[in-house]
Amino acid sequence: MKDDILKVLITEEEIATKVKQLGKTISKDYEDKNLLLVSVLKGSVLFMADLMRAIDIHARVDFMSVSSYGSGVKTSGVVKIVKDLDINLAGYDVLIVEDILDSGLTLQYLKEVLLQRKPNSLKIATLLDKPERRMVDLKADYACFTVPDEFVVGYGLDFAEKYRNLPYVGVLKPEIYTK
Ligand code: XMP
Ligand code: MG
Repeated sequence: MKDDILKVLITEEEIATKVKQLGKTISKDYEDKNLLLVSVLKGSVLFMADLMRAIDIHARVDFMSVSSYGSGVKTSGVVKIVKDLDINLAGYDVLIVEDILDSGLTLQYLKEVLLQRKPNSLKIATLLDKPERRMVDLKADYACFTVPDEFVVGYGLDFAEKYRNLPYVGVLKPEIYTK
């Protein structure tokens, strides 16, 4: 698996440090709020697991799954809710936990859908931000790392459902996704 990685972009240690910092910031910002972390499966699982442990105030968690990419590397622009939340958002300060904000199409759609459910507030925390590829006017409220316009995998992010279990974020060798 490691042979498929061209280079490591963000190390395990860098991720751990940033995610802990973000946990502290969120704990402060949501001290007097009613925090509900909404993890967007599957890419955000590792980020969610580490981030929730770095938050030291009451935090509920819920999960949803949307599909926008199929198994390839290009966005289709079509977003479908594959698994919806269990918790009713009314009364909660919702923080969407995402792996990457790329074109922004997925999160823009998700934001609209979740806002219709009348949460107290709705914000976005993303592990990675790839601003060069943005197609809509959307910014993350919290972002750990800005990445260049390269297809990245690891720490939850996949290519064709592989590489999610890499503990770091890396760039895939082009021959892997062009073959
Ligand atoms: P956007 O913001 O384009 O992103 O709607 C939608 C989803 O696509 C995935 N994505 C990636 N996955 N490496 C990946 O492994 C990437 O470079 C990448 N860019 C986008 C991701 O699941 C995101 O939520
Ligand atoms: Mg995702």
